[in-house]
Amino acid sequence: MKILGIESSADETAASVVQDGHKMLSSVVASSLDLHTVYGGIVPEIAARSHIETIIPVIERAMSDAGTDWIDIDAIAVTNRPGLIGSLLIGVMTARTLAIVKKKPLYGVNHVLAHTYANFITETPLPGYSLGKPPKFPALGLIVSGGHTQLMLYKNHKDYILLGQTKDDAVGEAFDKVAKILGLPYPGGPAVDKAARKGDPTSVKLPKARLPNGYDFSFSGLKTAVLRAAQAMAGKDFTFPSTQLPKVLNAGQKADLAASFQKTAIDTLAEAVKAAEAQFKPSSVLLGGGVAANQSLRQTLTKSLRTTLLCPDIKLCTDNAAMIASAAFYWHDKADSPYKLAVIPSL
Ligand code: KG4
Ligand code: ZN
Repeated sequence: MKILGIESSADETAASVVQDGHKMLSSVVASSLDLHTVYGGIVPEIAARSHIETIIPVIERAMSDAGTDWIDIDAIAVTNRPGLIGSLLIGVMTARTLAIVKKKPLYGVNHVLAHTYANFITETPLPGYSLGKPPKFPALGLIVSGGHTQLMLYKNHKDYILLGQTKDDAVGEAFDKVAKILGLPYPGGPAVDKAARKGDPTSVKLPKARLPNGYDFSFSGLKTAVLRAAQAMAGKDFTFPSTQLPKVLNAGQKADLAASFQKTAIDTLAEAVKAAEAQFKPSSVLLGGGVAANQSLRQTLTKSLRTTLLCPDIKLCTDNAAMIASAAFYWHDKADSPYKLAVIPSL
């Protein structure tokens, strides 16, 4: 079964053809990131306009890269939740129209859950991908992205429990906000990751949030603690504007703050996964989402867990459509109406 996946929930316009949930025949991702960098975050109107311009060429490219014609496509899968409303609308309306015109079943996919399905892509003729073995159930899923931080227990496909999630900022959002405090470019994750390599992760004492449900997370306080530590390092009090900090901190101080923040955030995630591993004894642990690209997170989890950790190829950690097509394959039963499939910005 070949599924055409379409993804447009944030700033990436993506399309991919995946066969039987695991064989990625093509994956095309066009990002409007450069247009947002000057604003230090995604501008929803710019993202939506950019999706309109690129979605058809991206789909055409994914079809031709896969060597497929419409006759070969068995179904269309599209992210319909959660995400930016204008961005989601472009993908969903395109998918609905194609489903009607090409007479294909349509499946609306949950973007957050789909992030773990990047681990089910285990085969591809495309060069430059490093893919792992098929995940085994029961599996723990740690989804760490710019919008979400969730710990899931998958007993099987379609049979899962949400063990915990962030109560405020997502961990990727915390990376992005700390990057801003340090004057590093958007998106902050890769920039903080790079700066952290030159810093001492034990130099700044930062708090780890503990919540009543040990599997929930909170990263908003950590971000504020980094701000206070940065102000103190610069010899200023808490009224000193964060926008001025990049000018008064030197490179060594920035690296120490980045390293200490990154270690605290990663240790917080790793402790929750370790506790869930002890309680649920999974057969595999699946990492997914943009922050899964972080090597230090991967190393810390690998060291602290007894269970096999599966991480998607870096290109499949950030938003892509292969994970959408794969999730639809394992989850599909009743198709959605191409006349009615709605977008759900917030779950
Ligand atoms: O999954 P994703 O592409 O989009 C969402 O669904 O949110 O994740 C984007 C997030 C951003 O917050 C970005 O800063 C973070 O992933 N990120 C990283 C790294 N690469 C991307 N965070 C930490 N370390 C990285 N190497
Ligand atoms: Zn995402």
